[in-house]
Amino acid sequence: MKGLILAAGRGTRLRPLTHTRPKPVIRVAGRPIIHYAVENLLAAGMEEIGVVVSPETEKDIREALSGYKVRYLLQEEPQGLAHAVAVARGFLGDGPFVLYLGDNLFQRGIGRFLEAFREGVSAVLALVRVKDPRQFGVAVLEGDRIVRLLEKPKEPPSDLAVAGVYVFGPEIWETVEGLKPSARGEYEITDAIQGLIDRGRKVVGVEVEGWWKDTGRPQDLLDANRLLLEELSPKVEGEVVKSQLTGRVVVEKGAKVVGSTVIGPAFIGEGAVVEEAYVGPFTSLGPGARVVRAEVEYSILEDHALLEDVALRLQESILGVGAEVRSRNGLPRAHRLILGDLSQVELA
Ligand code: TTP
Repeated sequence: MKGLILAAGRGTRLRPLTHTRPKPVIRVAGRPIIHYAVENLLAAGMEEIGVVVSPETEKDIREALSGYKVRYLLQEEPQGLAHAVAVARGFLGDGPFVLYLGDNLFQRGIGRFLEAFREGVSAVLALVRVKDPRQFGVAVLEGDRIVRLLEKPKEPPSDLAVAGVYVFGPEIWETVEGLKPSARGEYEITDAIQGLIDRGRKVVGVEVEGWWKDTGRPQDLLDANRLLLEELSPKVEGEVVKSQLTGRVVVEKGAKVVGSTVIGPAFIGEGAVVEEAYVGPFTSLGPGARVVRAEVEYSILEDHALLEDVALRLQESILGVGAEVRSRNGLPRAHRLILGDLSQVELA
């Protein structure tokens, strides 16, 4: 079977982070989000993986996946999930395939969805019970069979939201081809699946096991980072000098922790520097990030981000690539920052 990862979105809800880089390359627990998708597809035994990219996202996605053997497919414009699938028609051929949204995270992988894909089933959808289904695709079930699908309904008929993994048989082409754009102007995969249901095809819903995260908004990135760090295995390959590491901490090779306290779970990426500083639980530092005479917890610092001489502790913050936060003097009372790549903030 083939796997298809979608990574051609605009990521508007994650601006400014996504002004300069696509969402799937943002790091959570030290790795680009899209790595988890590739790893889950490989673990599920995919023979080949295709990644749908846009002219804007292609370069960064290729860089983030440089260690993996995948095929890149270009979607000129993000015209919807069904459009992205149609772009991959040649790559997918006539066999069944897994569609995986590149910004989704599944704690327990995707094995159970593949198991449910058997003779006579045209599609398997991953479902999650959510408190407020209004912002999701929502499924109505009879037994394990999905009898109706609604996109972002005002009055949800169930609490079962559609998560970002689908297994499709080749019947999906019957309804993807010939699809009309929706009211919001996109070719919706929910419409294609509803088309299958209308034709009497069997579409099955399988509830997600463990946690699932769609990393659409900044808070989702922090949540995903926390959930992944919960499962971190400690490992120290970098240099730790006159410092205290408590709990599960990873210090990658080339990283340096000097005169500091790190309380896990925390991830200190390759070449990162923590100096006379405090790094608290649920914090990830990307490669080359630096925290110097400062305190941070429950935050993500991307590659080469800098936090220096800041008197108050930084919490629930995301610093993009090369973003810098420094304080020369004075003590601001509180900080909460979502900073895009190359942002610079001086707290005077
Ligand atoms: P969405 O979350 O629907 O869109 P987005 O990522 O662009 O974010 P926002 O709503 O904040 O603008 O997309 C889910 C995934 O599918 C995401 O990884 C991007 C990808 N995608 C495509 O590859 N092509 C498309 O045409 C669309 C709409 C999304």
